[in-house]
Amino acid sequence: MPGRPHGDELSLPAPEPEALALSQALSQEIKEHIASTGPLSSERFWQHALYHPTHGYYHNGLAKFGAGGDFITAPELGDGLAYCLARWCAPLLAELSAPVILEPGAGTGALAASLLSALDTQNCLPDAYWILEVSGSLRDRQRATIEARVPHVLERVRWLDTPPEESWTGLIVGNEVVDALPPRRLTYFEDRWHELVVTTDSDELVWVRGEAVEADLPVEACQPGYVTEDVPMLAPWVKAITDHLERGALVLIDYGYTRREYYHPQRTSGTAIAHYRHRAHDDLLWMPGLQDLSVSVDFSALAQALHAAGMAPAGFTSQAQFLIAFGLADYAAAAGMDGSPQSLATLQEVKQLTLPSEMGERFQVLLAQRGLELPSLPLNQLHRL
Ligand SMILES: C[S@@+](CC[C@H](N)C(=O)[O-])C[C@H]1O[C@@H](n2cnc3c(N)ncnc32)[C@H](O)[C@@H]1O
Repeated sequence: MPGRPHGDELSLPAPEPEALALSQALSQEIKEHIASTGPLSSERFWQHALYHPTHGYYHNGLAKFGAGGDFITAPELGDGLAYCLARWCAPLLAELSAPVILEPGAGTGALAASLLSALDTQNCLPDAYWILEVSGSLRDRQRATIEARVPHVLERVRWLDTPPEESWTGLIVGNEVVDALPPRRLTYFEDRWHELVVTTDSDELVWVRGEAVEADLPVEACQPGYVTEDVPMLAPWVKAITDHLERGALVLIDYGYTRREYYHPQRTSGTAIAHYRHRAHDDLLWMPGLQDLSVSVDFSALAQALHAAGMAPAGFTSQAQFLIAFGLADYAAAAGMDGSPQSLATLQEVKQLTLPSEMGERFQVLLAQRGLELPSLPLNQLHRL
């Protein structure tokens, strides 16, 4: 599989002076940290680069989503994803008493606003909509989005600092949140897995091979020089968000693979990727705080984590198949095909959501339930996980 280009090969657009200063301050802090405590694991590096309380990517308030940012997610393209999710959610909400929707990692609040609006139209709003969000600046943004688009339901929305700690019933809906969890980068060397860690060389941040570590990865990946990732916090995170769900279901959408595809012998440089102003590259240490970092999701590991947490994985399919099964054609038809700007924008959105070369096949949907029968999923691929 082809390697991804490095930041300098791409000649990435120069950051504005204010953003540059912010990244330099964060880099300096990371270097001081390394000088005092030694090299940083990739998980710790991710924590600094994405979640440093003031300068981290998800906390610093700079534009990230949409045309003026670094990447675009499905809810930012339009209402199509939410329209179909609402179709999936509606019969389940009707089955539950006092249901809540919990959305971890809500970005700009676009999905929350569109989903609440679609559910309102179907007359099946949940009693409450909880957003579990780590970023203060994004919380402000989410509130503003919801207030602007569905002001009459704002009172149902609550922001959580930690996963629910009391028993609740409802649905967990997450888009592109699992890929943001910090990974452990690993390389295979002399018959052992070793962590890749971040240190300094001539005042530059660099990756070096660290200690040998235990890693439960497929034998196909055990070849000299192979680089890959796993996500140690995946299972604890899944357990935390599902722990007190008494009855309900979960839908997580993200880019990723089954375990067999993830640790394919030819995927020799892993899936970790940086996004800056809509360019994807593999220079993960470039300008900490200014670019998004993520890894593809190992959906087999995610299903395993759900199972271990007492949820029953119930469905797995591509985003395209899921959206087609839950009404995307009706969404497109409602916009009309009259050549108006609105209909053309919807057509474009539908293409981006479903084409294999866009999000359609790269993004997968995993469904799970606890004590609730889910609508049947055509072409369910759960057996592949
Ligand atoms: C790539 S963005 C996706 C945003 C949104 N779901 C969308 O589709 O546009 C990742 C989101 O997850 C949030 N996030 C990252 N780690 C998180 C965690 N451990 N718990 C909850 N949210 C988290 C980020 O702050 C951000 O809102």
